[in-house]
Amino acid sequence: MNNEKLFIFFGATGNLFTEKIFPAFYHLIRRGKIDNFHILAIGRRFRDEQSYQSFLRQSLSNKIPNLDYSVLDRLFQKTDYYQGDVDDPQPLMSFLTEYHLISYQEVLFYLSTLPSIYTRVLRLIERINEHIPSNIPKKVIIEKPFGFDKKSFIYLNQLFSRLAPERNIFYVDHYLGKDTVQNIIVLKAENWFIENLLSAGYVKEIHIVVSEKEGVGSRGQFYEETGAIRDIFQNHLLQLLSLVAMDIPPLCQEDKIECSSFLNSMQQKKIEVIQNLKLPSAKQVFLGQYQSYAQEISNPFSKTETFIRLPLYISSKRWSGVPFWIITGKKLAQKISYIEIVFHSTTSNENRLIIEIQPEEKIDLVIQVKIPGMGLSSSPVHLNFNSLGTFGINSPEAYENILIDCYRGDKTLFSNSQFILHSWEIVDKLKELICKEQVQVEKYADNYYHAEEFINLKK
Ligand SMILES: NC(=O)c1ccc[n+]([C@@H]2O[C@H](COP(=O)([O-])OP(=O)(O)OC[C@H]3O[C@@H](n4cnc5c(N)ncnc54)[C@H](OP(=O)(O)O)[C@@H]3O)[C@@H](O)[C@H]2O)c1
Repeated sequence: MNNEKLFIFFGATGNLFTEKIFPAFYHLIRRGKIDNFHILAIGRRFRDEQSYQSFLRQSLSNKIPNLDYSVLDRLFQKTDYYQGDVDDPQPLMSFLTEYHLISYQEVLFYLSTLPSIYTRVLRLIERINEHIPSNIPKKVIIEKPFGFDKKSFIYLNQLFSRLAPERNIFYVDHYLGKDTVQNIIVLKAENWFIENLLSAGYVKEIHIVVSEKEGVGSRGQFYEETGAIRDIFQNHLLQLLSLVAMDIPPLCQEDKIECSSFLNSMQQKKIEVIQNLKLPSAKQVFLGQYQSYAQEISNPFSKTETFIRLPLYISSKRWSGVPFWIITGKKLAQKISYIEIVFHSTTSNENRLIIEIQPEEKIDLVIQVKIPGMGLSSSPVHLNFNSLGTFGINSPEAYENILIDCYRGDKTLFSNSQFILHSWEIVDKLKELICKEQVQVEKYADNYYHAEEFINLKK
């Protein structure tokens, strides 16, 4: 047995793998963070390894300035490609059973593919699994959306449980891999005054925004299956909400990073938030579709929402009556994700705490100060922290953190099945409300509106 771990990627010709995962491997090798691994890349589009490699070479050279070709070549030495179709599983099965899976220290199955084929891939993995001795650990890594609704998630979860115990199932929500999102934990846990200010007595409302400039592009088929509610709301937005709203458990003084009791209680606290979420009335739910969407996906009758805005409430003493405005959409004027906490104020200028997740990683606190020489006249100013400016380095890309954690088996940054189950309950109820109350999907002009313009609309 060699000491390498084997990643098997289903969907290795797709957007996620080529745009995020493969570049993350490149950076990890370049920075000497990971070495003992091998990749088996499975996709349909390319007939052979040579054409697959030249596609990746082109894609990386467009993406990474000053690409180091020696690093890339090293990564290629670690990557095999196989053209396989999950809908024609026999040749793929034969190939995999002859692939010497048993010579690896661990096998990590990574589903970087369309959610509609997850169950077929999992059944295939189940068959492959029969050829791997039980003493070789297996992990299954899956990308959101995890199913389509609560029922399909329960079914997926049953398939997982036949492959590996829950501790070896990694539900990826790449927002949790971002340093700024992890910073919410530190901000609350290590700045006790902030954790205390985050409550109904001080907070008027909270805005959680994921605004995209791009449309669906080549991901039309995928997007028609999901829409904004399943693509972004069910996972990223509910994760951000629960991080902001949870009661932070006490930090372990001896080892903050590895403290498993802290991390376990944090998962539990997030679940408590999501179990107590309340939907608003249908009147407060706004659904939109960007003007050119239907044409872009060649379906003039599509009712898929590319935008959603609604307030959510938490039934707890801490958050009683505070609206958490959730806003996400495609083809808006700006690409930006942030959380904005608006505090009650005695003046018309509100105090705000803004945690920007992308494109910049920064935290802004807006306070009032006296204008020099103007009596007691005041003006809002920003006290700000910018990760690059302060630490002089860019945070690693989310997928670098995710790959390393899967490799090491660290589940801190991953969702868990209980959280996902409850998040699907919210989504199912929301879908039911939309259907019962016939909430219409309204058109909006491409790349024209800023996300916050929708907050006051029909409030
Ligand atoms: N793209 C992102 O930035 C991103 C970010 C976060 C999460 N995700 C999640 O990642 C997953 C993949 O997204 P994506 O954007 O990469 O989708 P994509 O670009 O549509 O790629 C889908 C991949 O699945 C392969 N595939 C489809 N049907 C197959 C079959 N029958 N047999 C074998 N392979 C098959 C495709 O192969 P061919 O193209 O070769 O036919 C392609 O490699 C989704 O769950 C998505 O939600 C994506």
